[in-house]
Amino acid sequence: MTRAGIILAAGQGKRMKSATPKVMHTVAGLPMLGQVIAAMREAKIERIVVVTHKEGGEVRAFAQKLGAGSVVQDPQLGTGHAACMAAGALADFSGVLIVAYGDMPLVTFATFEASFAAQAKAGIAMVGFRPKDAAEYGRMILDANGLLDRIVEFKDANTRERCEPLCNAGILAADAKDFFRWTAMLGNDNAQKEYYLTDVPSFAKAEGVGCAVVEADEIEMMGVNSRAELAAAEAAMQARLRALALAGAVGMTAPETVFLSYDTVLEADCQIEPYVFFAPGVVVRSGARIRAFSHLEGAEVGAGAIVGPYARLRHGAVLEEGVHVGNFVEVKNTRLEKGAKANHLSYLGDARIGPAANIGAGTITCNYDGFDKHKTDIGAGAFIGSDTALVAPVTVGEGAIVGAGSVVTKDVAAGSLVVTRAEQKEILGWAEKFRTKKKAARAAKTKDK
Ligand code: UD1
Ligand code: MG
Repeated sequence: MTRAGIILAAGQGKRMKSATPKVMHTVAGLPMLGQVIAAMREAKIERIVVVTHKEGGEVRAFAQKLGAGSVVQDPQLGTGHAACMAAGALADFSGVLIVAYGDMPLVTFATFEASFAAQAKAGIAMVGFRPKDAAEYGRMILDANGLLDRIVEFKDANTRERCEPLCNAGILAADAKDFFRWTAMLGNDNAQKEYYLTDVPSFAKAEGVGCAVVEADEIEMMGVNSRAELAAAEAAMQARLRALALAGAVGMTAPETVFLSYDTVLEADCQIEPYVFFAPGVVVRSGARIRAFSHLEGAEVGAGAIVGPYARLRHGAVLEEGVHVGNFVEVKNTRLEKGAKANHLSYLGDARIGPAANIGAGTITCNYDGFDKHKTDIGAGAFIGSDTALVAPVTVGEGAIVGAGSVVTKDVAAGSLVVTRAEQKEILGWAEKFRTKKKAARAAKTKDK
């Protein structure tokens, strides 16, 4: 059976007080909408339609980037009305569909799978949860058979209904053709004058179609409406990602201080010291060690490599096996080949550092002339002395030695020594003479006063 998904994201998210649409705020480095789309993809949902606000251009572009379609809902007349907006985009679709919200970043594919399984048996499935604080969620009232009798929105509920602990999370699975027939029947005769998605089961029931309730974990169903809730979702996602890493045999002495992205790949038996931040796009191979207070983004760290403490790896940093990148070293778009070392205080940008080359403290690749970026190429086994400026484009041949403090502007041949610093001069006894002269001048000045 083919599967489709509708993601409701037309709400303005006013409580975020942000120029960024709510669903574009990130959790573990991925916009919340991306988290929901990823969970849908994992549940083999092929066609996805995102319902957006008319000013949601950024949301539509992001959906498109992830291979999802989008429609505009204008004005916003409720969740049922929003889901109905996807009818045109899914007119040629037959199969089952699932509706979810774009601001539910912790939702997992397992809950979508469980909903599809329950839908196959009952006709419709909706997801319920039992939050510690049921607040203003819609309440789910079950019938004697444990199927859904109805959902009562908080604003429409009486005191007894408000005591019901089972709440509607907002996920619904149904046959697509039936679903759009039912949503077309929705009315807005309720406290909020909205077209409620939660009324769909009543129409189904009238046709003899039951609605099963799948119960999910409260954390997973967390919706994000404010900055505080976004931070809470981030904390929950970090806890989930850390637990997955530990289960995958990643060594972390203080996992609660390590921040991961949705796509961080940490191979078994790598070691992550405290206070390390992984922005998106990082792969760390087995046996590598990331030392404390390092920041990594878009980088690959090879087997047995050591990074940090206090290192920064940026986009396109590739560290091959056994490479060392030490404290206060920044690496961008640079490959350090097997066994190369840059242990202290350097900037390596747009470069290739050959195998076993040694980059001395304070080495800088001057890769940018204010207009273009240029390449630096360091050959195998070359030795770059401390405080060298490599003015790109420039090549240092295999095994060459660059003397400390050099400014290298021309290519250096393999095996040669290059030193560009001014020659050292020494004047014997000069310091003593200088001090005597200065002291005498100061004494004369004090006497004058
Ligand atoms: C909804 C449910 C409620 C449930 C709660 C869970 C209905 C009628 N109520 O209530 O039972 O307990 O979610 O969080 O479904 N949206 C649109 N267009 C609209 C309205 C909403 O796209 O016209 C989107 C929002 O962007 C949001 C989602 O639908 O992602 C839910 O909307 P929201 O207004 O938060 O619904 P609630 O009133 O909280
Ligand atoms: Mg809500």
